[in-house]
Amino acid sequence: MSQATPGKEAWASRIGVILAVTGSAVGLGNFLRFPGLAAQYGGGAFMIPYAVAFVLLGLPIAWVEWSIGRYGGARGYNSSPGIYRTIWKTRAAPYFGVLSMVIPVMIYMYYVYVEAWCLAYAMRYLFGAMDFEHAADYEEFFGAFVGAGGHGDAVMIPGEGLLGSAVFFLVVCFVVNFVLIYRGLTRGIEWFCRWAMPALIVCALVILVRVLTLGTPDPAAPEQSVLNGLGYMWNPGANEVGLLGALRNPEIWMAAAGQIFFSLSVGFGIIITYSSYLHRDDDIALSSVTASAGNGFCEVALGGLITIPAAFVFLGFAFVQDPPGTFGMGFVALPNVFGEMPAGRWFGFLFFFLLFLAAVTSSLSMLQPAIALLEEGLGLGRKASVALLGFITAVGAAFVVFFSEGFVALDTIDFWIGTFCIYVLATFQVILFGWILGGDRGFDELRRGAEIRIPAIFKYVIKYVAPVYLLTIIGFWLYSELLTVPEDPEETTRLQQIVQSGEVQLSLILILMVGTLFTLLIAQSVKRWRAAERAQVEVIP
Ligand code: ALA
Repeated sequence: MSQATPGKEAWASRIGVILAVTGSAVGLGNFLRFPGLAAQYGGGAFMIPYAVAFVLLGLPIAWVEWSIGRYGGARGYNSSPGIYRTIWKTRAAPYFGVLSMVIPVMIYMYYVYVEAWCLAYAMRYLFGAMDFEHAADYEEFFGAFVGAGGHGDAVMIPGEGLLGSAVFFLVVCFVVNFVLIYRGLTRGIEWFCRWAMPALIVCALVILVRVLTLGTPDPAAPEQSVLNGLGYMWNPGANEVGLLGALRNPEIWMAAAGQIFFSLSVGFGIIITYSSYLHRDDDIALSSVTASAGNGFCEVALGGLITIPAAFVFLGFAFVQDPPGTFGMGFVALPNVFGEMPAGRWFGFLFFFLLFLAAVTSSLSMLQPAIALLEEGLGLGRKASVALLGFITAVGAAFVVFFSEGFVALDTIDFWIGTFCIYVLATFQVILFGWILGGDRGFDELRRGAEIRIPAIFKYVIKYVAPVYLLTIIGFWLYSELLTVPEDPEETTRLQQIVQSGEVQLSLILILMVGTLFTLLIAQSVKRWRAAERAQVEVIP
């Protein structure tokens, strides 16, 4: 690593920043979201749009974020509003930073709740409290635990009291996240990722060996073997509609691109802040590829090889073709699998503990962008900025926990923030890099200090292909989510949901309130930055 700028926070080591970015990327998306989507969209067939989205969107946009971040960091800024302002000299530029504040902060509000479920399940396995007799019992327990049946039900599970509740574990997760953030970049984030990342890979490898050696546990169902499970995951034609049938469905392309964004944490406004703590000539090209490849390994080679084959072996082909959603797969189906597996209690513990570690390294990273703004924009100290952000996120998480019936708050925020806004922010950032900073300048920035040579073709991918690809996806996606009428009369479009559901309206109001708050904070920051710049001009006439 090159020399630090005095007084400015910076990563302590290169491996530290790579592990922190990989930690931000590796999370629930790798072990729950990816297997669920891959299974739903035809196993191996999903891997084709997934690989295309990785090469044309994921990796190039990761390079964009690393470059913009280091560029802004070298000019003294760590928050994206400040960084956007150094690149685009217009009054509007910092206000695009509202998105890169609202996205991580609001994803944190529900992500930390799911993190709490992981910790709770890990503890229950450890203390032998997850031994149910029937498959339906797991589902019933999960529903009661997360309060899926009624608003406010998650506060206490009947018969278990507050200490066994999701809210208790949520408080524990909040404390863990905020203590680490309070400790700062190197003593908090970097320190935690340095041991949590290797630990989670060890846990995953142990479970992987267990799953891959399951063979054919039920002699009465010889087709339910590990080999067939792997075949479903990797063979592009091993689904009901065949490879071409699967690829003809536009949804598979959107789902694959969405997964690449969610999984790599690109379009979140996180990497840009993380890379702003690098020094001017530190490599970003190879570090970014390393972090993206590490995330891909955890997703495809660990998440995909554990969850799908295990579910296939114990629950069969029909189940993996139509899995019960992201959470159903992780919290309902897999406990069934562990229930049938020899020493399943310990593997259950390891699996959920692994999920918990992966979730913390991601949720931590969602807090740093706002902390950077509060500190450098408003001049708040660490204590005040952590307390203010703690208050904002606690209100949001309480909202998500309270409106738990049918996961309505979680689902609405995930849709509008965790999917829609991510695409919009990613589109803004590729345009900022390719068209405002300029393709050539942007690429020179990316190549400075680079330890690998990035092919020049990516300059054109970033400038032309990625924006067109993104705008096409946004167009198709808005059309299918908002305007097409679902075949099932029980289902409603997103627009209908807004009109019909008070809870959806409240969730959108929460999003608007958080957006307004950050707009005001950014306006205040811009005032301070301008005043500081004027003062400098006066000192050096
Ligand atoms: N990238 C994080 C995940 O995959 C958010 O969970």
